[in-house]
Amino acid sequence: MSSRRKWEFELFTHAAPDVCAAVTRAIAREDVPAIASIMYRAFQGTVDDEGMPEEQAARKVNAIIDGKYGPFIAAASRVAIVDGECAAFLLATDYEPYGMPVIAAIAVAPEYRRRRYGRLLLQAATQALATLGYCRCCAMISPGNAASEALFASIGFKEAQPS
Ligand SMILES: CC(C)(COP(=O)(O)OP(=O)(O)OC[C@H]1O[C@@H](n2cnc3c(N)ncnc32)[C@H](O)[C@@H]1OP(=O)(O)O)[C@@H](O)C(=O)NCCC(=O)NCCS
Repeated sequence: MSSRRKWEFELFTHAAPDVCAAVTRAIAREDVPAIASIMYRAFQGTVDDEGMPEEQAARKVNAIIDGKYGPFIAAASRVAIVDGECAAFLLATDYEPYGMPVIAAIAVAPEYRRRRYGRLLLQAATQALATLGYCRCCAMISPGNAASEALFASIGFKEAQPS
C-alpha cells in the first residue's frame, strides 16, 4: 500500500460526455457478492495481490460502502452490467487524507477485460464527481500495474509530483 503512487485528475478540464448510462448503474448492496467475486479474481497474481480470501473481499467492499475509507460517494460508484451480469465495478470515496475524492477500487472481471468497461466506469465516475462539484480526484496505483496506469492515463490522469 505504501509504495503506491498518487495519480490525479483535473475534473473540470476533462469531464467526459455521458456515454455510459446504457451499461452502468448505481451500486446496490445486493451487488456486494458479485463485486467481491470480481475483486477476488481481478487482483490474483497481480502486484496488488494481498492474498485476500473472497469473504474478506466482501467485508472490504462492505466497509468501503459503509464509509470506513471515507464517505462513500454513491453517485460516482457504479457497476457495469453485461448480459445481465456484473462485469466490473468502481467504488469512489471522499478519503480526507488525499484531499480529494479517490477511486478506491476499480476492477473488471478477467473474462471482460479490454472491452472498455474499465474506461466506461472511469468516465462515468469522473463525470459524476464533476457534477457533484469536485475539481479533482485521484487514484493510488502500484508501480508495475501497467493496465491500471494505461487505463487512468487514457482519460487524462497524470502521476502527481511528490509534495
Ligand atoms: C485495470 C483494469 C480495470 C482495466 O480494465 P479494462 O476494462 O480491461 O480496460 P479498458 O478495456 O477500459 O481499457 C481502456 C484503456 O486502458 C489501457 N489498458 C487497459 N488494459 C491494458 C493492458 N492490459 N495493457 C495495456 N493497456 C491497457 C488501454 O489504453 C485501453 O485503451 P484501448 O482499448 O483504446 O487500447 C483491469 O485490467 C483490471 O481489472 N485489473 C485488475 C484490477 C486493478 O488493477 N485495478 C486497478 C487498481 S489501481
